[in-house]
Amino acid sequence: MRTPVFAANWKMNNGPQEARAFLRTFLARYARRTDRTVAIFPPALTFSAVHEGLRERTDILLGVQNIHWEEKGAFTGENSAPIASAAGARLVLVGHSERRHVFGERDEETALKCAAAIGAGLLPVLCVGELLEEREAGRTEEVVLRQLRAGVAKLASAALGGIVVAYEPVWAIGTGRTAQPEDAASVHGVLRSALRKLGEASAANVPLLYGGSVTLKNVGALLAASDVDGVLVGGASLDAEGWSQIVRT
Ligand code: PGA
Repeated sequence: MRTPVFAANWKMNNGPQEARAFLRTFLARYARRTDRTVAIFPPALTFSAVHEGLRERTDILLGVQNIHWEEKGAFTGENSAPIASAAGARLVLVGHSERRHVFGERDEETALKCAAAIGAGLLPVLCVGELLEEREAGRTEEVVLRQLRAGVAKLASAALGGIVVAYEPVWAIGTGRTAQPEDAASVHGVLRSALRKLGEASAANVPLLYGGSVTLKNVGALLAASDVDGVLVGGASLDAEGWSQIVRT
């Protein structure tokens, strides 16, 4: 993933039928390109429809929005990393702010999930980001570093190169308030140097994505910011036409 990454997080939107309609439009507008990586994270029950729709387009990667850390067992409602991988997923979101703040996911769980993902050959996209009150209290760095270190705590340093980190300030998600490119760059710089300290060789390869109210209007400036290797997009990834414009940026 050394090319800019454009990742679509559909959250709890788009059933199988809507996803098929999305792909009809999107695939017609976005031809295979080697200078960028496009990924889609559909809801679990929409996953197979998207997988099927992308049979001829293996350039577009597929991910799941969450996994359980156990391989299998009595965990009603959950999906494991091996199940996601067998279904065709290459990536998995871990510790998205909605998982943390709506579903109470803790740092220890993100660590288990990252390790489970790596164990199953999936690329975990570890999401970190501060709340508005944490930013206002000057605690942004402390929060994202805690989340980063905790998330990778169970990985061998050689495995560090096999992750993606997404910085998503919670106050910017779904709010229309985007971080300024220089704010994103500054947090990404902090994350990059922390990764370097954790494992020099692999840190350089970890793509750092920005997420939080990314739109066609601001995506260019965000991608131009230093250490921003891609974007994780929620709302603006739901419209096939708009998303195809964003990924052609
Ligand atoms: P948003 O969501 O683009 O709608 O702000 C981003 C995300 O939560 O990944």
